This record gives sequence, C-alpha cells and structure tokens, in this order.
Amino acid sequence: MKFFPKSFIFGAATSAYQIEGAAALDGRGQTAWDLRNKDEFGKPTGDVGDVACDHYHLYKEDVQLMKTLGLQSYRFSVSWTRIYPNGYGKINPKGVEFYQNLINELLLAGIEPAITIWHGDLPLALDQIGGWQNRETITHYLNYAKTLFDLFGHQVKLWFTHNEPWCAAFLNEYPINQQLEIAHHLLVAHAQAVKLYKNHPNGNGKIGIVLNLGKQYPNTFDVKDYLAARNIDGFINRWFLDPTLKGVYPADMVSLYQKHDIFFSVEAGDMELIQENKMDFLGINMYSRGIQAYTEEGLFNARGVSNPNAQYTSMDWEVCPRSLYDLLVDIKETYNNVEVIIAENGSAFEDTVSEDGLVHDINRVDYLKSHLEATRQAIEEGCNITRYYAWSLLDNFEWGLGYSKRFGIIRVDYDTLKRTIKDSGLAYQKIIQERGL
Ligand code: NOJ
Repeated sequence: MKFFPKSFIFGAATSAYQIEGAAALDGRGQTAWDLRNKDEFGKPTGDVGDVACDHYHLYKEDVQLMKTLGLQSYRFSVSWTRIYPNGYGKINPKGVEFYQNLINELLLAGIEPAITIWHGDLPLALDQIGGWQNRETITHYLNYAKTLFDLFGHQVKLWFTHNEPWCAAFLNEYPINQQLEIAHHLLVAHAQAVKLYKNHPNGNGKIGIVLNLGKQYPNTFDVKDYLAARNIDGFINRWFLDPTLKGVYPADMVSLYQKHDIFFSVEAGDMELIQENKMDFLGINMYSRGIQAYTEEGLFNARGVSNPNAQYTSMDWEVCPRSLYDLLVDIKETYNNVEVIIAENGSAFEDTVSEDGLVHDINRVDYLKSHLEATRQAIEEGCNITRYYAWSLLDNFEWGLGYSKRFGIIRVDYDTLKRTIKDSGLAYQKIIQERGL
C-alpha cells in the first residue's frame, strides 16, 4: 500500500444549481439558468434544474451518505439568489436557513464544510446590468461575500471565491476584448474578496480561487507545436495563475493580445490590489489535458489534437492521469510551491444499473484511482497538495448538457431521486478508510 500524508483531506464537491432543485421555493431569485430550455409559459423544453437532485429537501440523507463514504470535507456552493434574490438588497432568511441547516448537519456528522461563494449561477438581475462586464457586479459580489462571512464564517474555515473564472469569461459569444475585461473584473473581485476575508473578524480560515487547469502538450517535437501549446497554456492556465499568484498578467500573452490590437481596461489601482491580496491556496479543477499543434490560423496559432491511443470519457475528454502529475509539479516549480487543493477531479461515463441494482462503474473506479495515485506521487515529489475533492458527490445537472452526463460517485435516479452508491463511491470509501492505494 502507498499512503497519503496523515493531514491529507479527502472530500467530494457539488454546486448549488447543479443539485439543489427547489428553484422557485422559499424566495430564491432567478438566474439565467432558470430560463434556459423553457417555453414562454415556463414549461421545460429540455433539461432544467428545477428539481435536479432535490438536495434542498434531501440534504440530510446526502450528508448521511457522505458520512457513509467517510468524507472528511464537503465542498458546495451557496446559491447567491437564495441569499439575495436580486443579487443585493434584502437578505432572504429562508435561504440563509437552508445553508445554516446544511452546515450544522455537516458539522454534526464530523464533515468539514467548504464553501464556493460563486459557482456559475449569477443572479438574473445582475446579468441584466451586464453581469461581470459591469463593475457594479463586483460591488454586489463583495456585499454577498461579506454576508456569507458574517453568517457562516465562524463555522466555515475554507472558502473559494470563484469557480472556474476562465469559463465565466470565455465560454460565451462576446468579442475577446470584452472577455478579457470580464476576466479582469473577476480577478479584481477575487482580490477584493481575499482582502475582505483577511480583515473580517471571522477571517481566520483560508481563502483561495478555483481555476480550471489542464496541462498543454505539443503534438510533436517541432518548436512551433511548443509555441501553440504555450499559447493555449497562457490563454487558459497562466492568465489566471499569474495574476492570482504573482500579481501580474503573463507578459507573453499581453504582447500577443497587443500585437492583435486587443486591449481591455484596467483601472488605476487594480493591479496593486491584485498584487497585494494574494490568496492562501490555489484550488484546481482538473479533468484532462490538451495536445496542441501549430496552425497559421487563429489568435493562438493552435489546434487541439486528439490522441488515438487514449481512452476518452463521455465528455470526450482524454483520460490522462500523468498530466495531473505534470501539472502539479509545474505549479510547484513555477509558483513557489503554493498550497494546492484539488477542488474537482472526476469523470463522466455511461453508467448502467445492473440486475442487482448496483452500478459497476469500473471506468470511473480506474479514473479515480489513477488520478489519486498521480496526486500521491506529486506529494511524494514535494508538491504541497493538501486536499482532494472528487467531482461529484452525486450525478447532477451538467449545465448545457443537462442530465445526460453522469459524474457522480453516487447515482441519482432522476425519476425517483433514489441515491445508490456506485462502485467508484465504494472504492473511494475504501481508499479514505485505508488512507492509501
Ligand atoms: C467543472 C465545474 O465546476 C462543474 O460545475 C462541472 O459540472 C464539472 N466541471 C464537470 O464538467
């Protein structure tokens, strides 16, 4: 057996809109996701999060399942519109009550709560003023973050500012200069939230961001392929890593954008704020890697290539645990061995329920084990990795792909809402119990 350090924490993660359901209950306000896949009368025309896993009503059962698995920590997000239905204004006590109950239930079960302040479900009212393109959203976000620190900061000691700001900034139809502006505002909001937390009476825990990172490899040894891989690394990874950990934007990417006349506005004081308010740890969501080949086309001169010899998940993401190891070692070397929390890692596969009612998801078992082993090896190599959160505790609403992709280590039957621990859940339970592989 190969063991994890005694202090290493095993957990699982979810996010509010993906699991909670109860979308119109107890004063919760709307997000853009609530309008998607619905006709003019509000009738669903496709998958929606109205019920999802109904975690809002079943949270006690879910906490018991976490306990059964032996989870030491649970990473979840708070729904902004349950606390502030319009993004700001009057606090909705029913929303507060739900998270208070959940936190109490977790603590009672001996499971440490870890909160993501914002995980993709921006209040519709803020979307309507331009979302993160409008700096006013930063003000409302800070007000919301402060409310969470006031309400829960004495019980919750681990905080994530944003989840995957790259996705929020770049997975849309805006022109790139606007996308860079959104990214910048997210970084400013993050730095402000770190500052706020550090000066808060309950701020004696830790706070960091969660970035979606994937190591980028050149397709061949050709130096041009290296350039392509480096550009995509700059676009996705370093654009957020460098500001949050070094306080600056990566110079090669800034000049690439300038060369193409792409500019975004940075207000006086923004970079000082980002520079002066470094987070305590880096959260990483890692699922796969990229392979890049040079092309004359496009801003980054890069074209993603697939690997004919690899296994792919049902998201069409290559399974490559080695790339997790490489990524972690890179981060250790480039960013002064910053504390790293693996905030998400997991896989979607087409599960089937066997006659015995169980889910023998051997692909997911392998994925989990190989990525945990990569993590363990990186720790052995001296990387300062303190936690691993499996994505996800439950099968859930995979955003634009709805319920078609199952990431859970626990199956959810969407007709009956029945939960079944999959073989991957049982494998994780054993790893946690033995603290090794
Ligand atoms: C990362 C996101 O944080 C989460 O919301 C999503 O479901 C998983 N990746 C899987 O795509």
